[in-house]
Amino acid sequence: MGLKKIKDNVFWAGAVDWNRRLFDSLIPIPDGTTYNAYLIYGKDKTILLDTVDPSMTHMLMDNLKEIKNIDFIISHHAEQDHSGSIPAVLEKYGNAKVVTSLKGKPMLIDHLHISDNRIVTVEDGAKLELGGKTLEFIYTPWVHWPETMVSYLHEDKILFTCDLFGSHLSTSGLYCKEEWKVSEAAKRYYAEVMMPFRTNIKKHLERLAKYNTEIIAPSHGPLYNNPEWILKSHAKWVSDDVSNKVIIPYVSMHGSTQLLVDHLTDALAAQGIQVEKFDLTVTDLGKLAIALVDTATMVIGSPTVLTGAHPIVISAAFLANALRPKLKFASIIGSFGWGGKMIEDIQKTIPNLKVQMLEPVLIKGKPDAQAYIAVERLAQEIATKHRELNIL
Ligand code: FEO
Repeated sequence: MGLKKIKDNVFWAGAVDWNRRLFDSLIPIPDGTTYNAYLIYGKDKTILLDTVDPSMTHMLMDNLKEIKNIDFIISHHAEQDHSGSIPAVLEKYGNAKVVTSLKGKPMLIDHLHISDNRIVTVEDGAKLELGGKTLEFIYTPWVHWPETMVSYLHEDKILFTCDLFGSHLSTSGLYCKEEWKVSEAAKRYYAEVMMPFRTNIKKHLERLAKYNTEIIAPSHGPLYNNPEWILKSHAKWVSDDVSNKVIIPYVSMHGSTQLLVDHLTDALAAQGIQVEKFDLTVTDLGKLAIALVDTATMVIGSPTVLTGAHPIVISAAFLANALRPKLKFASIIGSFGWGGKMIEDIQKTIPNLKVQMLEPVLIKGKPDAQAYIAVERLAQEIATKHRELNIL
């Protein structure tokens, strides 16, 4: 694609992966992604900020084909989608060194087998003078791994944030003018990658607010030349606020759980509560993750398979548990044929969710009038809880 100018002597040099559809062999990314690397020329030093996924090394090397010298490769984050092409760059530029955080060094050695003598470490707050351009390193652990840091280019007021503020969104330009599109992609990205680190991000946002930032340049998705809205979005997502919403991820085998889910949906809607249903046999797990960002309540629906919960439900519950959303309440509804431990199976899968569990609704066979009354009671209880939170 070639270099793209951001500011004088500051260029995008990454790769756009239009066709990638799954990240971490787990999460759908319907809009592809980008691996953003950046090139900065100072009067004295030339640096490359991060690289690209190993599957796209050829694109990065093509972008660098006219570049005679690189002094430093900044590795903000050791995960391979940003560090994986460092060995190729080091091979081409024999005098180049990798600059990383104290915790980044052993990770780069472990993951990429980079020689110890090609890596230099920087402390939090250290500055690299390039000649007319000054890059400051800011430690931001746990966005997304413990070694992660961001950097700030003082003269151009650019914050390079690697995974933080990223989005899985392919674009041909540096910026995306369709804010709704970036907004959804950034929320999906936050949900899938950053949500487990919500409290860390909260602290980092406070520190980063002190920098006068005109451009945020993440390592996935478009850059932000009007960074206020993405900063505000993140501030909202990491806050403790939840919305008047119930999400119902579920599976139904013979229709009984589906009848309960449908009745609960109507009963909640009648109470003035927004509901999102996710039939887990067909849903995009990314959509479920997005809904988890700010929803108050989750009700999991499952039939009983042999003696336990449906495996697809367990898988989704396991993911929700790992993402650690700020849910306040949870419950379980479902059916069984002759017995089993469906409720216990699901409860054991979600220990990280700091929720108040509401009385489950478990029925034998097809729901009858009493089952529907139990579902309506659950809807009323959820409405009461939402009122107590002042969100209904
Ligand atoms: Fe985009 Fe944590 O790597």
